[in-house]
Amino acid sequence: MSQNQFDKKSQAWSALFSEPMSDLVKRYTSSVFFDQRLWQADITGSLAHASMLAAQDIISAQDLADIQRGMAQISQEIEAGQFDWKLDLEDVHLNIEARLTQLIGDAGKRLHTGRSRNDQVATDVRLWLRSEIDLISALLVDLQKSLLEVAQRHVDVILPGFTHLQVAQPVSFGHHMLAYVEMFSRDTERMQEVRARVNRLPLGAAALAGTSYPLDRERVATALGMVNAQGLPQVCQNSLDAVSDRDFAIEFTAAASLCMVHISRMSEELVLWMSQNFGFIKIADRFTTGSSIMPQKKNPDVPELARGKTGRVVGHLMGLITLMKGQPLAYNKDNQEDKEPLFDTVDTLKDTLRIFSEMLGGQLDPATGRKEGGISVNAAAMEQAALRGYATATDLADYLVKKGLPFRDAHETVAHAVKAAITHQVDLSELPLTVLQGFNGSIEKDVYEALSLRGSLNARNTLGGTAPAQVHVQIAKHFARLA
Ligand code: ARG
Repeated sequence: MSQNQFDKKSQAWSALFSEPMSDLVKRYTSSVFFDQRLWQADITGSLAHASMLAAQDIISAQDLADIQRGMAQISQEIEAGQFDWKLDLEDVHLNIEARLTQLIGDAGKRLHTGRSRNDQVATDVRLWLRSEIDLISALLVDLQKSLLEVAQRHVDVILPGFTHLQVAQPVSFGHHMLAYVEMFSRDTERMQEVRARVNRLPLGAAALAGTSYPLDRERVATALGMVNAQGLPQVCQNSLDAVSDRDFAIEFTAAASLCMVHISRMSEELVLWMSQNFGFIKIADRFTTGSSIMPQKKNPDVPELARGKTGRVVGHLMGLITLMKGQPLAYNKDNQEDKEPLFDTVDTLKDTLRIFSEMLGGQLDPATGRKEGGISVNAAAMEQAALRGYATATDLADYLVKKGLPFRDAHETVAHAVKAAITHQVDLSELPLTVLQGFNGSIEKDVYEALSLRGSLNARNTLGGTAPAQVHVQIAKHFARLA
């Protein structure tokens, strides 16, 4: 092919180039088949930029009107699935701009005044991520509410609390659920903190150094809702930084990773609790799968997969942070690689939060107005398990301390009592009073209250403790926070 035979129009920067890009390079460098999901943010950002250009007399009012009309049509085409995305046009930005120019002529070519794809893409990703964070935050609230409803129904259900996965002390199942509510409430806080830093405007940084046109960046920020709590515009203050750093995407993925880690820990417990060896809970059939060979099986695939997908999201965090580490200022094409991990993190987190809300809390039945089909709890099995493993040994020690023994001595005395109980294969509460008195003469009949599961629970009536009275207080606090 001779130097000027190729279709220069198909490339945005053609005049300088003496040969077309090879198909392999086109495929390698293009992002349009994944970044097209930014189209709405791209158009929103372009319209705010164009309005500002017109207000600053950089383009005419007619140009602005044409751009608005063209973009409205493009939005319709994309929504209807009729937009012809072209690999040759590399990415979402060039595809939309080319179509705009095709529709409205020169005004379309003026849109890019005072702008570069570098500040454009950084703006688009921030706008898109901001709205995803809002969706994720709402899903986190749903999940917390589901957990609170489960907690509320099971304040008085007792299960063994573990340390080292060894029976430690009895706890309320409601209290156990509230532990996860705390985790997800911190995840929500983290999302809001990240959102505040995502919500800053790179546009106006142009390629890297700013622009010679008299832009009003604060006007664009305000138009795009990039404002702080006081309503003041949030604008990236250094052009080089604005186009180059993706720390906002990294910290979002870090927050998402932590949230998935919380989901994953819960998943591990659900899987254990569902096993025949625990038999604590059942999850509804629609969240389980059978085995193609073992007819008796119901497998907890959803929590298992969530545990697995946590690895995938943490992997995206590693990918993004590694993507950034060697880049000199300012924009580098490396940054195009931020999208797939970020998109997949958002998709995975949203699906997981949705499915967990429903699996735990159930689905709203419009007929009854109640949620149906969440996890079902086998209170008897939990309580039975709490009775194995001497979960109230600490309570006996505390009982002796109240009788005047130093804690260390009480601890030793109880160890002897536990040894005797193991020998006789009974629980501490099943040892006759005379036997208990053999370990310490101050033991009286009221010891059996201390040795009961409920007595043990009720005794832990301090802030953050597992006593049902405390659990009720916490549930009310959380419901009020989420209302
Ligand atoms: N598709 C590119 C990205 O996602 C847009 C920015 C390209 N800028 C450039 N100078 N080649 O990062």
